[in-house]
Amino acid sequence: MLEKRRVAVFGAGYIGLVTGACFASLGHDVVVRDIQRERIDILQNGGVPIHEDGLAELIAENADRLTFTLDAEEAVRESDVVYVCVDTPPTPSGDADLSRIWQVIGTLREARHLAAVVVKSTVPVGTGARVRAAMDRGGLQHVGYASNPEFTAEGHAVHDFMHPDRVVIGADDPETAKLVAQLHEGVDGPVVTMDVASAEMVKLAANALLATKISFANEIATICEATGADVEHVVHAVGLDHRLGPHYMKPGVGWGGSCFPKDSRALRAMASNSGYSFQMLSSVIEVNDLQPRRAVQRLKDELDGVLADRTIALLGIAFKPGTDDVREAPSTILASRLLAEGAAVRCWDPLAPPLETAPWSVATRYATPLEAMTGADAVIIVTEWPELREVAWEKAAAAMARPLIFDGRNLLDAQQMGSLGFTYMSVGRRTVRGTA
Ligand code: UDX
Repeated sequence: MLEKRRVAVFGAGYIGLVTGACFASLGHDVVVRDIQRERIDILQNGGVPIHEDGLAELIAENADRLTFTLDAEEAVRESDVVYVCVDTPPTPSGDADLSRIWQVIGTLREARHLAAVVVKSTVPVGTGARVRAAMDRGGLQHVGYASNPEFTAEGHAVHDFMHPDRVVIGADDPETAKLVAQLHEGVDGPVVTMDVASAEMVKLAANALLATKISFANEIATICEATGADVEHVVHAVGLDHRLGPHYMKPGVGWGGSCFPKDSRALRAMASNSGYSFQMLSSVIEVNDLQPRRAVQRLKDELDGVLADRTIALLGIAFKPGTDDVREAPSTILASRLLAEGAAVRCWDPLAPPLETAPWSVATRYATPLEAMTGADAVIIVTEWPELREVAWEKAAAAMARPLIFDGRNLLDAQQMGSLGFTYMSVGRRTVRGTA
């Protein structure tokens, strides 16, 4: 039998909204609180301010157990558990800015009725201990504290929440661990409990290792380019070794998003703060910084060393398909590098919102991939949107000033592109020269 709880989720971003909607679908009463009026207005009027697969449906289906508010005290007053899902952006020193977490903790002064405070935001190891101390000083000694890091990937976060590989709960007392585990009753995955510091570390270590696998595949891709091997064959066969696995081995123009870049830098900064140089992670980050730059250089070489006054189409702006999120997207580095070389940039993306800041303010956006490519000297596939497989590439070949593709995600069939007359460049594979 589900022990129904009242949960206040602080933060109506990608994590908070998914967490709130999923807890509501599990049968709990949830109030989601955010400081952005616009966001709460949209939610109160039945809309959803972000794109996340299945989220709008989940919110609509559970509308009777889900409310939205700007009022922190109201949210806390009616709840047993406070879930902290606010963002923790990096500061100039590379530390995480915890001010939003402290603001939430600051609103709990009168909240002696709470059973627990749970932090889901990604935080440096040791944050929980500091929050615990602050709660103790504020007369909340009897309120439990837990860390419950999130491992959901954008685009399938609802599915990941409901069917996780594991639910990690870090708590220093068994009652709080039990309470957080009970909140997840109905979730299809094992619960792993540990101390707070270890749970905080799991999140950083997991993301760093995933980023490491991708950067490793990208390094192998570069060596494949130099030696004539085909990275797709290589990573496929390497991934069949059950000790290694096939995941996060897809080479490309680099990883982006709200987590890998921020969390890898935060882990490196955390290590550096204690005087330890995390060299391996520094290399992982450096390889990733190089990926879009190498792509531009390879394209430039193919265009006789000149990008100035060339027109380049970028297909995909979001950091990965299935999301409208453009945070730390490799597309931004690509666009900005191309502009720095004097090229004109055209772009297309099915979900990314209109972007008013540079480099996107200077790039021209088109409604379809074909329009973006018309008249272009080259096209770069930046995000592996499935729509790109359906493009009438023979029409694109005819419409472009020069049929040249740099497939930054190894999405298309090289031989087929060659037969359509394209010069087809990709990551870690030989360039195919058009035969049409
Ligand atoms: C990631 C983690 O997967 C998730 O567990 C954590 O909670 C948050 O960070 P997310 O940022 O949504 O999730 O994206 P993910 O799907 O993991 O991809 C991250 C980046 O790596 C994307 O830019 C993607 O294009 C890139 N990637 C991923 C590769 O380049 N190759 C791969 O093989 C896999």
